[in-house]
Amino acid sequence: MNYSKKTVKDVDVKGKKVLLRCDFNVPMAKDGSGVITDDKRIRAALPTIQYLLDQGAAVIACSHMGKPVATFESYKKKQLEKGKDEASITEEKWKKSLAELRMEPVAARLSELLGKPVILADDVVGPDAQAKAASLKPGEILLLQNTRFEKGETKNDPALAKAMADMAEVYVSDAFGAVHRAHASTAGVAAHLPAVSGFLIQKELDFIGGALANPKRPLVAILGGSKVSSKIGVINNLLEIADTIIIGGGMAYTFSAAQGGKVGDSLLEEDWKDYSLEMIQKAKDKGVKLLLPVDTVIADAFAPDANSQVVKAGEIPDGWEGLDIGPETVKLYCDAVADAGTVIWNGPMGVFEFEKFAAGTKAVAEALSKTSAITIIGGGDSAAAVQQLGYADKMTHISTGGGASLEFMEGKELPGVACLLDA
Ligand code: 3PG
Repeated sequence: MNYSKKTVKDVDVKGKKVLLRCDFNVPMAKDGSGVITDDKRIRAALPTIQYLLDQGAAVIACSHMGKPVATFESYKKKQLEKGKDEASITEEKWKKSLAELRMEPVAARLSELLGKPVILADDVVGPDAQAKAASLKPGEILLLQNTRFEKGETKNDPALAKAMADMAEVYVSDAFGAVHRAHASTAGVAAHLPAVSGFLIQKELDFIGGALANPKRPLVAILGGSKVSSKIGVINNLLEIADTIIIGGGMAYTFSAAQGGKVGDSLLEEDWKDYSLEMIQKAKDKGVKLLLPVDTVIADAFAPDANSQVVKAGEIPDGWEGLDIGPETVKLYCDAVADAGTVIWNGPMGVFEFEKFAAGTKAVAEALSKTSAITIIGGGDSAAAVQQLGYADKMTHISTGGGASLEFMEGKELPGVACLLDA
């Protein structure tokens, strides 16, 4: 896939209506108060928005938020699937779930950050959006309602894509977090307008794409997280590219069990044991160094205050489970990143949310903060870990995309990038 795409700088936007797809899918307080708990994604879109406004464009911004269910019937079906009692599923609850995913909090925060009003539409392509888009002036910004309020959005409905495109003259995508989705606002719309990337997508493509296509070597990939099954694509692709692959987190226990180790009550994916052995063999065949934990911090319960001890990998007694990599493994992994040229990190080394089991993840983050290597952190859990542990500003690049950065590292085509004009 070609990652060299035209950007906002390659099109004339002066006096034009620009449809700008952002990823404003930000975490909100669980109490329904509408408080945004992390505005990183809104901040990350500011350079492109500011540039467009400074150039005299009229900006029609849009984004999805969460996973709203567009009709009561589908809401009911989903709740029943979740095992909810039919009598407890009401239209009122469905409406409340939609209200919590409206864009008002984003509009308010964006307005504060830009220091100017953000006009908010009550719909996506309905009469309110159409009227507000039509009267929008250069230097003004309009935010459409949650694109997923339209049921055609996730189906990439051509009529919805056309209706969105008809409001504008240029399409700019800066929604890196959603480029792995072939939806109407992330991909379909590009068929109707000159389509270019914003600065955020350009930065993500440069860093992640650069590390995959032409890395400064040695390239070390650190892969963690709970499941082998969710990282197969990444392991497979990185075995073709990386010099060293480091495995940590819950998925290490499946590798250990596959080699005959005892993993006690640790996370284990029986069905993926054979695959793990294949990966170990593939790494050998390709001359890729594959590092697995040599020791483990185990706990007698999945709890922050559980009793803990360190044992050798593959020697976890029943009734105990591995929650972090052990000190010898920490040393092995930190040594491996010390003289790397590039490090890609995706997935924590242990249950870093519990202080007692955060040491492995913390040590790796610290090692990354000290190396002179280019350090690239995948979005989602790894980004959260680096942030929570206080190392965020020491990394070269922290991706704003969770699923998107994962699919990028899997070498998959990203529909939200493929649809943009080649440079
Ligand atoms: C994300 O949070 O990873 C993106 O906003 C994509 O959201 P989605 O998984 O709901 O498509």
